[in-house]
Formats: sequence, structure tokens, C-alpha cells
Amino acid sequence: MRRACAAVLALCLAAAPRGAGAEEPPESVAAMRNPVAGDPAAVRRGQGLFLQNCAPCHGASADGKGPGAVGLRPPPADLAGPDVVPKHPDGWIYWRIANGKRGTAMPPFAFSLSEQERWSIVAWLRSLRPAAAGAAQAASTTEAGRAPLVAAH
Ligand code: HEC
Repeated sequence: MRRACAAVLALCLAAAPRGAGAEEPPESVAAMRNPVAGDPAAVRRGQGLFLQNCAPCHGASADGKGPGAVGLRPPPADLAGPDVVPKHPDGWIYWRIANGKRGTAMPPFAFSLSEQERWSIVAWLRSLRPAAAGAAQAASTTEAGRAPLVAAH
């Protein structure tokens, strides 16, 4: 019995350093396809799951400003903006939700959310993209419009 416990412990210890090296999602995630992509029911379900599981940190609108974000270093990612979701494939986001992010408060959800649930959240985050891209576009246009004015004075 004691030997069995020792063996389990050794397994855990052996797994730890390997895990630490696997911080970034493997390249293979790019090939993963979201089985519920664009399905309106999944998008709605994903929003509900996001509100329950992610909004405390990432905010109800996914902008990274949830009530639990205060004091977190680094702060939760802005998932509604142009910097995270639009720049990564679905599989990357799915992998991050499953595994969390070491060295940050981002927890792994592999055991608390089913695969289907994780993909639904990805589908919802993806559905925010057109609006977020539009807002980013508007912001940079405004800034570009302002710059010459300031320079002229
Ligand atoms: C306890 C707070 C907390 C909860 C709950 C949480 N996150 Fe995060 N999340 C973070 C933090 C902190 C980061 C790190 C941001 C960084 O690295 O700049 C992060 C990062 C991320 C990233 C981007 C990772 C990267 O490498 O850029 C994604 C995607 C993400 N979270 C999705 C989710 C989703 C989806 C949920 C719910 C299923 C969730 N998070 C729940 C705190 C949280």
C-alpha cells in the first residue's frame, strides 16, 4: 500500500516540471474545429456559462473588468477586444480554457466544464468579434483623425 502511494506521488512529481514547460498551447490546437461553431443555441449556452464561470474575473461583457479582477496581476484578459480572441484560432482558446494559464489567476476548467460547454463558450466569444472589431476600428480612426489636428497647433 505504501509503495502504491509512493508511486502515485512520484508520478505527480514527474508530471509537474513537464507541465510547467507546456505553458503555451501546442501548435496542434490550430487544427481543432469547434463542433458547435456558429450554432445560435450553443452561442446562447456559451454566454450563460461565461456569466457563471468567467464573468467574475473577465466581466459580463468579457472586457476583463469583472468584480473579481481587482488586484489580479496580470489582470484578466480583455476577451471582447481585438488582442486575444480575434488573434487566435478556436482550438487555442479552447485549450486555454481547459488548461488555464500558469503564473496567473486563470484557472483550468477541464474538469468543471464538459468539452461541449467549453466549445460553446468559444462560440460565444467568437460571436463578439464583429462588434469588437468594429469598435477597435472606430477607436483607431478617431485617433488617426485627431493626431494631425494636434500636430497642426
Ligand atoms: C479567477 C479569475 C479568472 C477566471 C474565473 C477566469 N479567468 Fe481567464 N484569465 C484570468 C487571468 C488573470 C488571465 C491572464 C491574462 C494575461 O495573461 O494577461 C486570463 C486569461 C484568459 C485568456 C487569455 C489567455 C492568454 O494567454 O492570453 C482566455 C482566453 C481566458 N482567460 C478565458 C477564460 C474563460 C473562457 C473563463 C471561464 C470559463 C475564464 N477565463 C475564467 C482570470 C480568470
